[in-house]
Amino acid sequence: MNALTPLTADQSYLRHFWHPVATVNELEAADPAGNGPIGRTLLDEPLVIAKLNGKYVAMRDRCAHRYAKLSVGKVLENNRIQCPYHGWEYGASGRCELMPACPSDAIPKKAFTPAYACEERYGIIWVRLDSSWDCTNIPYCEAWENPEFKRQIIAEPYNWDSSAERRWENFTDFSHFAYVHPGTLYDPAYSEPAIVPVDRVGGELRFFMEPGRDMLDTLPDDSPLGSWNYRNSMPFSVNLSIRLYKNDKPFLLWTTSSPTSQNSCRNFMIIAHTEDDLPDSQPLDFQKLVLAEDQPVIETQPGPIYLDEVSLPTDKISNQYRKWLRELSTAAAKGEEAFKAALFTDVTESK
Ligand code: FES
Ligand code: CO
Repeated sequence: MNALTPLTADQSYLRHFWHPVATVNELEAADPAGNGPIGRTLLDEPLVIAKLNGKYVAMRDRCAHRYAKLSVGKVLENNRIQCPYHGWEYGASGRCELMPACPSDAIPKKAFTPAYACEERYGIIWVRLDSSWDCTNIPYCEAWENPEFKRQIIAEPYNWDSSAERRWENFTDFSHFAYVHPGTLYDPAYSEPAIVPVDRVGGELRFFMEPGRDMLDTLPDDSPLGSWNYRNSMPFSVNLSIRLYKNDKPFLLWTTSSPTSQNSCRNFMIIAHTEDDLPDSQPLDFQKLVLAEDQPVIETQPGPIYLDEVSLPTDKISNQYRKWLRELSTAAAKGEEAFKAALFTDVTESK
């Protein structure tokens, strides 16, 4: 693969975005007090996630002393993370506040671990590794905004041996439905997808698609066939707002892929619907079925996207997405103003 040209040689622009690292449920399951710590990886950076003084924190998962992982330590009642090896205690800022072996010595300046911006939203913990420009937002999610929704399901995250870029493209790729999901999401008779207008608005890639209504006759009842309205916050979020053909009600499939490395991702999903009595397992099981169809194919792709790949006009969504990723990566290398302009300059094709 060495002769190939990657779409974005410099991935450091991704550090300026908010990425999901864990659900609140996962952190709460990790210890009886519900404060963690747990270990996660984001863009090859090992992180310790915990709740200190009621606030979520994310720090590099490495004690300054002998580099043991803080994520296998404890959150103490004094709201510090204690290293499992020699008991150094770290506060929310990442500074070491106690070295039990010599408690009255001055604490060395270098006795800290970097702390990153960390926020909770949608029952998910988000981290931004580089906040020096502070110009990006946590991705849009409609689940709690639309009062029609009666139930919001925060799914358990799942890992794929695929890049977040490939995962995003897979989710929004219209021409794979007929091949990977025949009889689940699509009728193979509709293998020529429409080419739709694509807009950039406020850092989101937006588009709209109406799959054939006739497919209602052949697809299972759980298949979310309807008009598909996408508001996808860059770089890895998808907010797929569906108006179901079968009953004209809204249904939301939201997913955000978190880049653990260039070849692996951790995926977060929220489903929102309007039904009173629908057990969570029903829409979740249907999504699992769809994911089980996608995963073995997507994991055969290389992690990085290459410029050498052959694109068709019907790949418009991914073509536009790739173009924007490339612009963001190039702009970030030039600095803050260029990055902001690349992210927030609207480009509108639709009327
Ligand atoms: Fe953490 Fe020694 S390695 S206290
Ligand atoms: Co698919």
